[in-house]
Amino acid sequence: MTGQVQILRGEEGVEEASRRLINGECVALPTETVYGLAADAGNPAAVKAIFTAKGRPTDHPLIVHLASAAQLPEWASEVPNSAWQLTEAFWPGPLTLLLHKKSTVTPHVTGGLETIAMRVPSHPVFQAILEQTGLGLAAPSANRYKKLSPTTAEQVARGMAGRISAVIDGGPCKFGLESTIIDLTQTIPAVLRAGPITRAALEEALGQPVSTPENHSIAVPGNVEAHYQPEARLQRVQTSELSISPEGSTAYLIWSDAAAAAVADFAKAGENLLHLPAEPEPYGQALYTALHQLDQLDVQTILVEFTPTDESWAAVNDRLRRAAGAG
Ligand code: TXA
Ligand code: MG
Repeated sequence: MTGQVQILRGEEGVEEASRRLINGECVALPTETVYGLAADAGNPAAVKAIFTAKGRPTDHPLIVHLASAAQLPEWASEVPNSAWQLTEAFWPGPLTLLLHKKSTVTPHVTGGLETIAMRVPSHPVFQAILEQTGLGLAAPSANRYKKLSPTTAEQVARGMAGRISAVIDGGPCKFGLESTIIDLTQTIPAVLRAGPITRAALEEALGQPVSTPENHSIAVPGNVEAHYQPEARLQRVQTSELSISPEGSTAYLIWSDAAAAAVADFAKAGENLLHLPAEPEPYGQALYTALHQLDQLDVQTILVEFTPTDESWAAVNDRLRRAAGAG
């Protein structure tokens, strides 16, 4: 495929995207987390086209997006009570459930695994398309393999030029970080990927403890450490280290006033400096767009001020750790 990515909008965009999806094509769609590259989860050729467009290894499983929780039994062989508790509390929204798959589900979607990841997204455009097509839609983030996830239609168009035909513009994503993934196939539910729904919120809804990535190991293709990376080298630094004169062309991503003072000699807001909010939700919402923006400067290094370590920052810290390519 060559050429520019068409940007679709409004009602017409929804109709056009629905038509293409029913035809087995891939279309990038907005969700409340990040933009996704969607295709008919029941059509193996359509699912394969997602992997080709992203350049993603075919053993990396995809998330299937559904119109409502009532469709879970069409994809999962067994839906435990814990799943219904979570769908009741958090769907539609940024939570993905991992359950045992039905034997009828094509192995292309699950990368050959016996489990399947599913969620009901809340973005009205995605919802409208699920309603109109009646399909389950497989959708990974709409970026090339290992690159930054997109949170605007423009970022999709730039990153996927020549690889996909269209994206619907649904505005900037509300959460800006990928969904929380919880594995309900084990005795103790386990968070496989930190995200907008925190462990505390999950434990409250379930009335039982939930384990997190720090206290168990995950060996799933696709859950790779080098992930979500900008072109520039991303390095996380302590606030005090920001006052050291940089080597080579450098951009800065900070959140504290102390950091702003430390970088005053080397960095200028609106040029090579972005100052994000000091709270985890708005920081997370702005993070990928900030990294996309700083990466456009073609600097050698992006220095990112370490963010706080308490649990409310878990999703942000997970993405920054991976963007820095560290384990
Ligand atoms: O917010 C999101 O979840 C976005 C939007 C588009 O919905 N999607 C997304 O998809 O982030 P993707 O493909 O970029 O990330 C999906 C993650 C991968 O890390 C994959 O390993 C994991 O989900 N996953 C999917 N199916 C799985 C399975 N059966 N077992 C374990 N992990 C699975
Ligand atoms: Mg992704």
